[in-house]
Amino acid sequence: QNIPGPKPLPLLGNLLELIRAPHETSGDFAEDYHRRYGGVFSLDVGGKRMIFASHHALVTEMCSDPLWSKAVHDPLEQLRDLGGDGLFTAYDDEPNWGRAHRLLMPAFGTAAIRDYFPQMLDIAEQMMLRWERFGPDHDIDVAEDMTRLTLDTIALCAFDVRFNSFYSEQPHPFVGAMVRALVEAGARGERLPGVQPLLVGTNRQYRADITLMHRIADDIVTARIAKPPAERPDDLLERMLTASDPLTGERLSEQNIRYQLATFLIAGHETTSGLLSFAVHRLLTQPTVLARARLCVDQVLGDRTPAFEDLAKLGFLGQILRETLRLHPTAPAFALTPSEPTTLGGHPVAAGEHVLVMLPVLHRDPAVWTDPDTFDPDRFAPERMGEIPEYAWMPFGHGARACIGRPFALQEATLVLAMILQRFDLSLADPGYRMTVSETLTLKPKDLLIRTATRRPAA
Ligand code: HEM
Repeated sequence: QNIPGPKPLPLLGNLLELIRAPHETSGDFAEDYHRRYGGVFSLDVGGKRMIFASHHALVTEMCSDPLWSKAVHDPLEQLRDLGGDGLFTAYDDEPNWGRAHRLLMPAFGTAAIRDYFPQMLDIAEQMMLRWERFGPDHDIDVAEDMTRLTLDTIALCAFDVRFNSFYSEQPHPFVGAMVRALVEAGARGERLPGVQPLLVGTNRQYRADITLMHRIADDIVTARIAKPPAERPDDLLERMLTASDPLTGERLSEQNIRYQLATFLIAGHETTSGLLSFAVHRLLTQPTVLARARLCVDQVLGDRTPAFEDLAKLGFLGQILRETLRLHPTAPAFALTPSEPTTLGGHPVAAGEHVLVMLPVLHRDPAVWTDPDTFDPDRFAPERMGEIPEYAWMPFGHGARACIGRPFALQEATLVLAMILQRFDLSLADPGYRMTVSETLTLKPKDLLIRTATRRPAA
């Protein structure tokens, strides 16, 4: 009945296994341990049992049972310093989660997402122009430019603010603060007991980074409030400031709005930029997929600037993005917890215990996917979608706590991928490049440098 796993040491539990793990990513770690211990294994971390269950049968057992809901697992708990009871880091039963969810959902409906199209195009054009101007001999760090793109896009669409990252040598200061804070939030759970208070410099930097991100959020709110009502756009921020919860009639508090802004600035760009970066790498290494994608774009767009209506016709790009998220789920894990004592795969689990679903393992479960390591966008062809069982592909999480920004992310990524394919011939700056992955809670290709030769100049 006991959940298998490596034997914990007195006091340290399994902390050393985590610290010394030679794996590149948490997904590789989980895959290795699932191979050793089976579908469910557990580690003792900080005196708490952390359960991992990532195979489809077990994920289905949890996700199909309303007893299970989102757990704010350790790294997210750390990030509450930044995101508080904002949507991403709120506990499932916190009143501000329901309030903000009901109030903000309409901003992610079909009509609202469509309204973001001109701003998405505006920022995408900036990146295209930059790549065109660089010319074919300049090395472009894909993840860095995709971060500029997605950060500027969420800031403009949601808050009507221009970060102008493409006009600056250095990334926006928000990005540096965020990356450091995400790395630190992830590292805190893996430190030996008693070490954290001794890391005076690290702790000071963490506080400073969070203060900076909150200040950026506060400045955005202050600038908006200073605008005359007639000049205020009808965007996500305006909803936060003026709308009421349809259920209770309550508004969001000042502090909660600050948490939501910080949350959206992070959640709204970090994972989409990883998705676009992995997609570019996949296209560069799969010539037949690249050729089909380009044909699709050429047939739909030709030389035209994309219009919103074109997106629905770029179905093959949607398939590429979905397959990219299968093999590179850029938010690689989510956690669930049962509200009452229950069992999982026949093992008892106490109420409130955390179970981690590692998406790189779920998305390669051979019980579901044939040739799981092969990149094949046709898995997501409309006529084959019925073959994918429920809960087998979950890059956007689960249930009521699933990603609110999914349509936003897919619209933005489809548009950008289409414009890249329409306008450039891409090549790896180093033809011998072997991709490695960097993990800061989310995943990105490391040091992916490309060159871009213009096929069609910007309109
Ligand atoms: C939640 C993935 C893009 C905003 C989540 C969760 C996942 C996820 C897995 C659930 C986390 C959990 O259960 O702990 C992704 C991926 C994206 C993406 C892979 C892009 C490819 C976006 C965008 C936005 C956004 C563009 C905003 C515009 C959020 C928010 C939540 C969330 C606010 C919390 C929802 C709630 O709990 O109510 N995302 N996301 N995400 N995402 Fe995304």
